[in-house]
Amino acid sequence: MKKQMEKCHILSQRGLGAGIFDLVLRAPEIAAEAVPGQFVNVYLKDHARILPRPLSLCAFDRTQGTIRLVYRVTGEGAGTEELSSYPAGTELPVLGPLGNGFPTELDSVCAVGGGIGVPPLLALLKAVPGRKTAVLGYRTAGQMFLKEEFDAAADAVFVATEDGSFGTAGTVLDALKTLPVQPEAILSCGPRPMLRALKQYAAKRGIALWVSMEERMACGIGACLGCVTESTETDAHSQVKNKRVCKDGPVFRAEEVVL
Ligand code: FES
Repeated sequence: MKKQMEKCHILSQRGLGAGIFDLVLRAPEIAAEAVPGQFVNVYLKDHARILPRPLSLCAFDRTQGTIRLVYRVTGEGAGTEELSSYPAGTELPVLGPLGNGFPTELDSVCAVGGGIGVPPLLALLKAVPGRKTAVLGYRTAGQMFLKEEFDAAADAVFVATEDGSFGTAGTVLDALKTLPVQPEAILSCGPRPMLRALKQYAAKRGIALWVSMEERMACGIGACLGCVTESTETDAHSQVKNKRVCKDGPVFRAEEVVL
Protein backbone atom coordinates (compact mmCIF):
# COMPACT_ATOMS: atom_id res chain seq x y z
CA MET A 1 0.00 0.00 0.00
CA LYS A 2 1.26 3.42 -0.94
CA LYS A 3 2.21 5.87 1.77
CA GLN A 4 3.14 9.43 1.22
CA MET A 5 3.93 12.68 2.97
CA GLU A 6 1.24 15.11 2.01
CA LYS A 7 1.02 18.83 2.76
CA CYS A 8 -2.45 18.95 4.27
CA HIS A 9 -4.56 21.90 5.38
CA ILE A 10 -6.88 22.05 8.35
CA LEU A 11 -10.45 22.60 7.16
CA SER A 12 -12.01 22.58 10.62
CA GLN A 13 -11.24 21.73 14.20
CA ARG A 14 -13.68 21.62 17.11
CA GLY A 15 -13.79 20.27 20.63
CA LEU A 16 -16.19 17.43 21.38
CA GLY A 17 -15.79 17.81 25.15
CA ALA A 18 -13.67 15.97 27.71
CA GLY A 19 -10.43 16.80 25.87
CA ILE A 20 -11.52 15.16 22.60
CA PHE A 21 -10.96 17.08 19.35
CA ASP A 22 -12.41 16.57 15.89
CA LEU A 23 -10.00 17.58 13.12
CA VAL A 24 -10.82 17.57 9.41
CA LEU A 25 -7.97 17.94 6.95
CA ARG A 26 -7.84 18.41 3.23
CA ALA A 27 -5.71 15.41 2.22
CA PRO A 28 -6.83 14.08 -1.19
CA GLU A 29 -3.89 11.76 -1.75
CA ILE A 30 -4.20 10.07 1.65
CA ALA A 31 -8.01 9.88 1.37
CA ALA A 32 -7.69 8.18 -2.01
CA GLU A 33 -5.63 5.32 -0.51
CA ALA A 34 -7.10 4.96 2.97
CA VAL A 35 -8.92 1.94 4.40
CA PRO A 36 -10.66 1.78 7.81
CA GLY A 37 -8.32 1.00 10.72
CA GLN A 38 -5.31 2.77 9.25
CA PHE A 39 -3.61 5.76 10.86
CA VAL A 40 -1.52 8.76 9.83
CA ASN A 41 1.50 10.48 11.34
CA VAL A 42 0.86 14.17 11.91
CA TYR A 43 3.94 16.41 12.06
CA LEU A 44 3.56 19.40 14.33
CA LYS A 45 4.70 22.89 13.44
CA ASP A 46 6.91 22.98 16.52
CA HIS A 47 9.99 21.34 15.08
CA ALA A 48 11.47 20.85 18.55
CA ARG A 49 9.15 17.86 18.70
CA ILE A 50 10.82 15.29 16.52
CA LEU A 51 8.24 12.55 16.85
CA PRO A 52 5.08 12.90 14.82
CA ARG A 53 1.69 12.14 16.40
CA PRO A 54 0.17 8.85 15.19
CA LEU A 55 -3.62 9.35 14.91
CA SER A 56 -6.18 6.87 13.61
CA LEU A 57 -8.54 7.72 10.78
CA CYS A 58 -12.06 8.29 12.06
CA ALA A 59 -13.32 8.91 8.53
CA PHE A 60 -12.14 9.70 5.03
CA ASP A 61 -13.98 10.98 1.99
CA ARG A 62 -12.44 10.25 -1.39
CA THR A 63 -14.88 12.57 -3.22
CA GLN A 64 -14.20 15.53 -0.95
CA GLY A 65 -10.51 14.61 -0.57
CA THR A 66 -10.69 14.84 3.23
CA ILE A 67 -9.64 12.84 6.26
CA ARG A 68 -11.04 13.17 9.78
CA LEU A 69 -9.03 12.54 12.95
CA VAL A 70 -10.74 12.41 16.35
CA TYR A 71 -8.11 12.45 19.07
CA ARG A 72 -7.66 13.06 22.78
CA VAL A 73 -5.38 15.74 24.18
CA THR A 74 -3.03 13.74 26.36
CA GLY A 75 -1.39 16.54 28.31
CA GLU A 76 1.49 18.96 28.22
CA GLY A 77 4.38 17.81 26.06
CA ALA A 78 2.48 15.16 24.14
CA GLY A 79 1.95 17.38 21.12
CA THR A 80 -1.79 16.85 20.98
CA GLU A 81 -2.36 19.99 23.04
CA GLU A 82 -0.44 22.01 20.47
CA LEU A 83 -2.32 20.30 17.63
CA SER A 84 -5.64 21.22 19.25
CA SER A 85 -4.67 24.91 19.11
CA TYR A 86 -4.21 25.01 15.32
CA PRO A 87 -6.93 26.95 13.50
CA ALA A 88 -8.50 26.25 10.10
CA GLY A 89 -6.10 27.02 7.29
CA THR A 90 -3.01 25.70 9.11
CA GLU A 91 -0.74 23.63 6.88
CA LEU A 92 0.36 20.31 8.36
CA PRO A 93 2.62 17.65 6.87
CA VAL A 94 0.95 14.26 7.27
CA LEU A 95 2.40 10.84 6.42
CA GLY A 96 -0.03 8.12 5.47
CA PRO A 97 -2.07 6.12 5.23
CA LEU A 98 -0.10 3.79 7.53
CA GLY A 99 -0.73 0.28 8.84
CA ASN A 100 -2.97 -2.48 7.57
CA GLY A 101 -6.61 -1.76 8.49
CA PHE A 102 -9.66 -3.82 9.44
CA PRO A 103 -11.23 -6.53 7.28
CA THR A 104 -14.46 -5.18 5.76
CA GLU A 105 -15.81 -8.15 3.76
CA LEU A 106 -17.63 -9.68 6.72
CA ASP A 107 -21.38 -10.38 6.55
CA SER A 108 -22.00 -9.00 10.01
CA VAL A 109 -19.71 -7.27 12.46
CA CYS A 110 -19.77 -6.10 16.01
CA ALA A 111 -17.46 -3.12 16.56
CA VAL A 112 -16.30 -2.81 20.17
CA GLY A 113 -14.49 0.36 21.20
CA GLY A 114 -13.33 1.83 24.48
CA GLY A 115 -12.56 5.53 25.02
CA ILE A 116 -10.27 6.93 22.36
CA GLY A 117 -10.44 3.51 20.63
CA VAL A 118 -13.96 4.45 19.47
CA PRO A 119 -13.18 6.77 16.49
CA PRO A 120 -11.57 4.29 14.01
CA LEU A 121 -14.62 2.03 14.35
CA LEU A 122 -16.81 4.68 12.75
CA ALA A 123 -14.85 4.45 9.49
CA LEU A 124 -15.13 0.67 9.74
CA LEU A 125 -18.91 0.63 10.17
CA LYS A 126 -19.34 2.97 7.21
CA ALA A 127 -17.38 0.54 5.01
CA VAL A 128 -19.03 -2.75 6.07
CA PRO A 129 -22.05 -3.60 3.91
CA GLY A 130 -23.65 -6.22 6.20
CA ARG A 131 -25.36 -6.04 9.60
CA LYS A 132 -23.55 -3.79 12.05
CA THR A 133 -23.65 -3.57 15.82
CA ALA A 134 -21.54 -1.24 17.96
CA VAL A 135 -20.63 -1.57 21.62
CA LEU A 136 -19.02 1.58 22.99
CA GLY A 137 -17.42 2.08 26.38
CA TYR A 138 -16.93 5.43 28.14
CA ARG A 139 -16.11 6.53 31.68
CA THR A 140 -19.29 8.49 32.16
CA ALA A 141 -22.22 9.88 30.16
CA GLY A 142 -20.62 13.35 30.13
CA GLN A 143 -17.60 11.96 28.27
CA MET A 144 -19.49 10.23 25.47
CA PHE A 145 -18.57 11.36 21.97
CA LEU A 146 -19.58 10.30 18.42
CA LYS A 147 -22.60 8.44 19.84
CA GLU A 148 -25.10 10.02 17.39
CA GLU A 149 -22.86 9.18 14.44
CA PHE A 150 -22.64 5.56 15.54
CA ASP A 151 -26.45 5.53 15.88
CA ALA A 152 -26.61 6.58 12.22
CA ALA A 153 -23.92 4.15 11.00
CA ALA A 154 -24.92 0.98 12.90
CA ASP A 155 -28.09 -1.11 13.09
CA ALA A 156 -27.83 -1.17 16.89
CA VAL A 157 -25.60 0.64 19.39
CA PHE A 158 -25.00 -0.49 22.98
CA VAL A 159 -23.18 1.73 25.47
CA ALA A 160 -21.41 0.92 28.72
CA THR A 161 -20.33 3.57 31.20
CA GLU A 162 -18.08 2.83 34.15
CA ASP A 163 -20.30 4.78 36.52
CA GLY A 164 -23.59 3.54 35.08
CA SER A 165 -24.68 7.07 34.08
CA PHE A 166 -25.70 5.82 30.59
CA GLY A 167 -26.43 2.35 29.22
CA THR A 168 -25.01 -0.68 30.96
CA ALA A 169 -23.04 -0.02 34.13
CA GLY A 170 -19.53 -1.46 33.75
CA THR A 171 -17.32 -2.33 30.82
CA VAL A 172 -17.92 -3.10 27.15
CA LEU A 173 -17.91 -6.79 28.15
CA ASP A 174 -20.87 -6.19 30.44
CA ALA A 175 -22.69 -4.52 27.52
CA LEU A 176 -21.68 -7.33 25.12
CA LYS A 177 -23.30 -9.89 27.40
CA THR A 178 -26.64 -8.06 27.04
CA LEU A 179 -26.74 -8.46 23.23
CA PRO A 180 -29.77 -10.52 22.17
CA VAL A 181 -27.60 -12.53 19.77
CA GLN A 182 -23.87 -13.01 20.23
CA PRO A 183 -21.84 -11.77 17.21
CA GLU A 184 -19.86 -13.98 14.84
CA ALA A 185 -17.05 -11.47 14.50
CA ILE A 186 -15.82 -8.67 16.76
CA LEU A 187 -13.55 -5.88 15.57
CA SER A 188 -12.18 -3.86 18.43
CA CYS A 189 -10.01 -0.96 19.43
CA GLY A 190 -9.22 0.25 22.92
CA PRO A 191 -6.88 -0.08 25.88
CA ARG A 192 -4.97 -3.32 26.28
CA PRO A 193 -6.86 -4.61 29.38
CA MET A 194 -10.08 -4.28 27.37
CA LEU A 195 -8.60 -6.18 24.43
CA ARG A 196 -7.26 -8.87 26.77
CA ALA A 197 -10.69 -9.37 28.34
CA LEU A 198 -12.31 -9.44 24.90
CA LYS A 199 -9.86 -12.10 23.74
CA GLN A 200 -10.87 -14.40 26.61
CA TYR A 201 -14.55 -13.69 25.99
CA ALA A 202 -14.32 -14.36 22.24
CA ALA A 203 -12.17 -17.50 22.63
CA LYS A 204 -14.69 -19.07 25.02
CA ARG A 205 -17.57 -18.48 22.62
CA GLY A 206 -15.81 -19.21 19.31
CA ILE A 207 -16.18 -15.59 18.13
CA ALA A 208 -13.62 -14.36 15.56
CA LEU A 209 -11.81 -11.34 17.01
CA TRP A 210 -9.61 -8.63 15.51
CA VAL A 211 -7.88 -6.08 17.74
CA SER A 212 -6.43 -2.71 16.82
CA MET A 213 -3.60 -2.03 19.24
CA GLU A 214 -2.92 1.42 20.61
CA GLU A 215 0.82 1.22 21.13
CA ARG A 216 3.00 4.24 21.42
CA MET A 217 4.49 4.69 17.98
CA ALA A 218 7.34 6.76 16.65
CA CYS A 219 8.42 6.33 13.03
CA GLY A 220 5.16 4.65 11.99
CA ILE A 221 6.84 2.84 9.10
CA GLY A 222 8.44 -0.19 10.73
CA ALA A 223 11.97 1.19 11.06
CA CYS A 224 12.55 2.11 14.72
CA LEU A 225 11.02 -0.92 16.54
CA GLY A 226 9.53 1.51 19.07
CA CYS A 227 6.16 -0.20 18.85
CA VAL A 228 6.93 -3.93 19.02
CA THR A 229 4.49 -6.21 20.77
CA GLU A 230 4.85 -9.89 21.63
CA SER A 231 3.38 -12.26 19.06
CA THR A 232 2.34 -15.87 19.45
CA GLU A 233 4.29 -17.02 16.36
CA THR A 234 7.91 -16.34 15.43
CA ASP A 235 7.99 -13.47 12.93
CA ALA A 236 9.47 -14.44 9.56
CA HIS A 237 11.07 -11.00 9.18
CA SER A 238 12.75 -10.61 12.58
CA GLN A 239 12.97 -14.31 13.64
CA VAL A 240 11.66 -13.37 17.09
CA LYS A 241 8.18 -13.42 18.63
CA ASN A 242 7.57 -9.78 17.88
CA LYS A 243 5.25 -7.79 15.70
CA ARG A 244 5.60 -4.15 14.79
CA VAL A 245 2.23 -2.58 15.60
CA CYS A 246 2.74 0.24 13.08
CA LYS A 247 3.69 -1.96 10.14
CA ASP A 248 2.32 -5.47 10.80
CA GLY A 249 -0.78 -3.94 12.47
CA PRO A 250 -2.26 -1.98 14.03
CA VAL A 251 -5.00 -4.56 13.37
CA PHE A 252 -4.25 -8.18 14.29
CA ARG A 253 -6.25 -11.38 14.61
CA ALA A 254 -6.41 -11.81 18.39
CA GLU A 255 -4.64 -15.21 18.16
CA GLU A 256 -1.59 -13.56 16.59
CA VAL A 257 -0.63 -11.41 19.57
CA VAL A 258 -0.03 -11.78 23.30
CA LEU A 259 -2.31 -9.33 25.09
FE1 FES B 1 8.80 2.65 14.40
FE2 FES B 1 6.73 0.99 14.62
S1 FES B 1 6.84 3.04 15.19
S2 FES B 1 8.76 0.52 14.00
